[in-house]
Amino acid sequence: MSDQSNSNAMWGGRFASGPDAIMEAINASIDFDKRLAAQDIAGSRAHAAMLAACGIISNSDAEVIREGLLTVLSEIETGDFPFSRALEDIHMNVEARLKDLIGEPAGRLHTGRSRNDQVATDFKLWVRDQLDAVADGLRALIEALLAQAGTGAGLVMPGFTHLQVAQPVTWGHHMMAYVEMFGRDLGRVRDARARMNESPLGAAALAGTSFPIDREMTARALGFDRPAANSLDAVSDRDFALEFLSTASICATHLSRFAEELVIWSSAQFGFVTLSDRFSTGSSIMPQKKNPDAAELIRAKVGRINGALVGLLTVMKGLPLAYSKDMQEDKEQVFDAADSLMLALAAMTGMVSDMTPNADRLREAAGAGFSTATDLADWLVRELGLPFREAHHVTGALVKLAEDKGCDLDELTLAEMRSAHDGINQEVYSVLGVENSVASRQSFGGTAPGNVTAQVARWREVLG
Ligand code: ARG
Repeated sequence: MSDQSNSNAMWGGRFASGPDAIMEAINASIDFDKRLAAQDIAGSRAHAAMLAACGIISNSDAEVIREGLLTVLSEIETGDFPFSRALEDIHMNVEARLKDLIGEPAGRLHTGRSRNDQVATDFKLWVRDQLDAVADGLRALIEALLAQAGTGAGLVMPGFTHLQVAQPVTWGHHMMAYVEMFGRDLGRVRDARARMNESPLGAAALAGTSFPIDREMTARALGFDRPAANSLDAVSDRDFALEFLSTASICATHLSRFAEELVIWSSAQFGFVTLSDRFSTGSSIMPQKKNPDAAELIRAKVGRINGALVGLLTVMKGLPLAYSKDMQEDKEQVFDAADSLMLALAAMTGMVSDMTPNADRLREAAGAGFSTATDLADWLVRELGLPFREAHHVTGALVKLAEDKGCDLDELTLAEMRSAHDGINQEVYSVLGVENSVASRQSFGGTAPGNVTAQVARWREVLG
């Protein structure tokens, strides 16, 4: 059908015709990998400077290339760049435009490299930027949680197991549980960044190159710690994207759990927390409604982020070394996961900063459901020397009695208390209040207000 003039300008030398429209549609990645433009140009600038420093291209060619690349970058930034699907991807779009701008020297840029090491480099640089952005997002969220924990260190609320009231805890302690989770996420981000920071550039197609290139130089210029040591691995490694996605999935899981709590807590039935108008929405039919949509969407985002992880794991499984075009399918899901995570982090930070715990309601709920029964059992052990199992049994009998009477534990008379164990005295009432309960839990990691304050101070120091 088509003659050779339609074949690809970059690699069409041995082709008699251009690609079928369907071939072009399945092959082209420019619609999404244009997001790598800045990284692609940074990689090319580092490569060109290195080629000149190693005497592989002339200094004057390198200078013309550098200026041309800066022009391309500004065209892309201002939206004036003529992206072309026929040119497949960002790498060939940039190079073709460079040729329009500077002519022959553009053709020397691709010496000693391939699109395989180029795309690995670009994508790594992009993921590295995302890791930095996620770290910033996590720090902001942790700060917001620390503020809540600081002001609510002594605020009593129910702690749950099985979503049944278990023991009183403090609001601050609950907030700090999420600080621990997001703190571990921050650690995973740092670990992933440190491990991924090796440069693939100069691995060329798969085997390295016969040109006397300096991979240390390009690695340094691009902020990598060192060049990747094996060219086959360098072009076929997507662990950095997988680690980004697994880190993102775990973080999104934490966000989703917290979001679920906010949905429950903000319901009329619970009334534990009031979300700000800024992070709530109304109903188009029920005027009285104030919905926790941000929390629900955060709860859901984990679905697409986990999907991206499983998607890329599936793309990579079974791929032989080195590069296969399958790997072009790595980008869209990482882009989507990164956007979703950043949005979820920002929305959660906004919600947490704005929300108000409802102290009265929390305190009332904290005392419900015989939540100080464990304190009673502990008192029997501590004061009367009962073995814990027996204390558990005695307390169970008192819970049953209170349940039958329809009252709380601290509303039982001393005579009623003594009916379960005759050693019980007036002192027992001192541990039945929720404030006393939380104040007594000073064991390391426990919910006592003093512990919370100390942990808030420690985290403020950690964050610097
Ligand atoms: N657009 C390609 C990708 O994203 C660039 C690498 C192409 N390499 C190749 N040998 N065809 O993976």
